[in-house]
Amino acid sequence: MRYPEEVIEEVRARNDIVDVVSGYVALQRKGNNYFGLCPFHHEKSPSFSVAPGKQIYYCFGCGAGGNVITFIMEYENYTFGEALQLLADRAGITLPKRAYSQEEKAQDDLKKTLLEINKLAANYFYHQLKQPQGKIGYDYLRGRQLSDETIRHFGLGYSNKVSNDLYRFLKSKGYGDDVLKETGLVTIEEKGSRDKFWNRVMFPIMDINNRVIGFGGRVMGEGKPKYLNSPETRLFDKSRNLFGLNFARTSREKYILICEGYMDVIALHQAGFSNSVASLGTAFTSQQALLLKRYTEQVILTYDSDGAGVKAALRAIPILKEVDMSVKVLDMTPHKDPDEFIKNLGADRFRERIEKAKNSFLFEIDVLRRQYDMEDPEQKTKFYQETAKKLLTFRESLERDNYIQAVSREQAIPYEELKRLVNRMASHFVPGSKAAGGPGLSGGEESREGDEAGTARSGVSGSTGPFGVSGGTGPLGIPGSLDRSGAPGSLGRGQAADGADRPAAGRRQKPLRGREEGVRQAQRLLLTWLIEDPGLFSKIKGIVSADDLVDPLYHQVAERVFDSLEKGSVSPAAILDGFINDEGQYREVAALFHASVKDSLSNEEQRKAFSEIVRKVKENSLEQARKQATDLGSLQKIVKEQAALRSLHISLD
Ligand code: UTP
Ligand code: MN
Repeated sequence: MRYPEEVIEEVRARNDIVDVVSGYVALQRKGNNYFGLCPFHHEKSPSFSVAPGKQIYYCFGCGAGGNVITFIMEYENYTFGEALQLLADRAGITLPKRAYSQEEKAQDDLKKTLLEINKLAANYFYHQLKQPQGKIGYDYLRGRQLSDETIRHFGLGYSNKVSNDLYRFLKSKGYGDDVLKETGLVTIEEKGSRDKFWNRVMFPIMDINNRVIGFGGRVMGEGKPKYLNSPETRLFDKSRNLFGLNFARTSREKYILICEGYMDVIALHQAGFSNSVASLGTAFTSQQALLLKRYTEQVILTYDSDGAGVKAALRAIPILKEVDMSVKVLDMTPHKDPDEFIKNLGADRFRERIEKAKNSFLFEIDVLRRQYDMEDPEQKTKFYQETAKKLLTFRESLERDNYIQAVSREQAIPYEELKRLVNRMASHFVPGSKAAGGPGLSGGEESREGDEAGTARSGVSGSTGPFGVSGGTGPLGIPGSLDRSGAPGSLGRGQAADGADRPAAGRRQKPLRGREEGVRQAQRLLLTWLIEDPGLFSKIKGIVSADDLVDPLYHQVAERVFDSLEKGSVSPAAILDGFINDEGQYREVAALFHASVKDSLSNEEQRKAFSEIVRKVKENSLEQARKQATDLGSLQKIVKEQAALRSLHISLD
């Protein structure tokens, strides 16, 4: 750990979680807890709750959870150190210097330096554009109808026709080869180092906090590759970032447009659609879907109208559906991409296309139809069958029927016929367990509310050039490192929010796993209960110890919980800090700390359940010990304890 525990404890203790979270989320008190709309996923009714007593938060919708420090980490996309700094500043605490471990400090310094260098490079490229030698780049961009304001907004630039001028510039700023080779901007070689980008217009790629993490560079005119991108570096993870999201995330539109190219995003923003993003020269990933999900529930794919674009859309749809997005697809014909569409037909016509964007399922059916010759009865029949098969993926009958209606209308298939076909198929075709989950046919719900789109909001402002905002001391950290991918294993979505011992967790598992899961759950519930009611510790002292919780994660938690209880007071938020380095772990621990067993059970049930849980935990640990016992003496002792356990009674009163 970078800072002594006392320091972290002090920072946390002096930043009340309700105060801090209130700065970001409107909270309302309900009983002991506060509730609000979760800032980590899109929702209409509040499932995000903050427990002042425990000083932790938890979202029953998306599983996000943690203490005041992780809240800042997630919300601001900060590293632990950055979050701590922010909270220390807020509370007027001066953090001790040089408290990092050597290794951590080195890693943090490297990231910080790389960000610095990227920013310098971006400014350098931007500056070149305004020089005589950069005129060719400037003219190219202007020739593509980008305004000066747009060029500044996106920080577009130009890399000179000299093979190593960026390298020399960065050297002159005092950076050594060992650092420079980590930037992906230069190739270091014995006989002389070279710039990666050469005679290209430059597109800086920023993370959601406007920090430059990489570049794309385009040849002016023909040439291969058309776009050259920074390689993956310590900062640049192509699968976890989206071009333009730093601006799009503050757009007030309900939906986000996903397109294929940098130029498309830029043209769209310039035309007033500041809610558009693009992936970074690679296929759309599930991490990107999760990243988007933080900001919106609706996306419109505005991919190229060619075969490759259609294919890319077909690949992206299930990835977006997987995170419960409503997905539509925009018809770009007769133009190739958004940039060309807008150049030719203008923003208003594009807006019309947005309004007409097609439900992704209906789009898939359209694409399917094109694979068949509808003049041929055999092929036509095959198309109907395939369509029916796809309709089967909707397990909810009302939703399925809505889609049957829509498809029958769109494809001119008689409704009754299609319905019968789907039903018949249902009887001898078992669809995959995963429903396609459509957004429902709600019609034009995506239509724009107001007319604020005329002016692209500027995310970067000030007179210091396009990179003025993320100043030299700006935050560092790998964007997207705190996305939803590490949802807690067993105390996940919806389920067990109250910690009650339902069979749900074991339902989808094989019988053997079921027992294991039951034991795990008992351990988890015991921890939840002890956090909720520390007074119970005296009831189980001498019966159960931290060592009886054998699940590796729960064991770690238990050691801390039991240790604090022994000392007289337990701080869930403090214990959480111990898990900060593993997102999946801290989420799970936050979930189990936040859960409440008592609310959901009557007194009588509580008595029974608590006894049962303690017994189960102990039984399991004794059983394991018995299997591992090597001498008769200890074996006899265990067997005796097992017998005693059977007559154990724990009174809650
Ligand atoms: P496109 O070839 O569709 O280019 O590539 P574009 O966006 O329309 O660009 P212009 O209008 O010709 O300038 C779409 C995206 O694919 C990635 C880039 O991210 C590009 O924006 N790409 C394309 C590469 O990374 N390398 C390439 O060589 C080509
Ligand atoms: Mn284009």
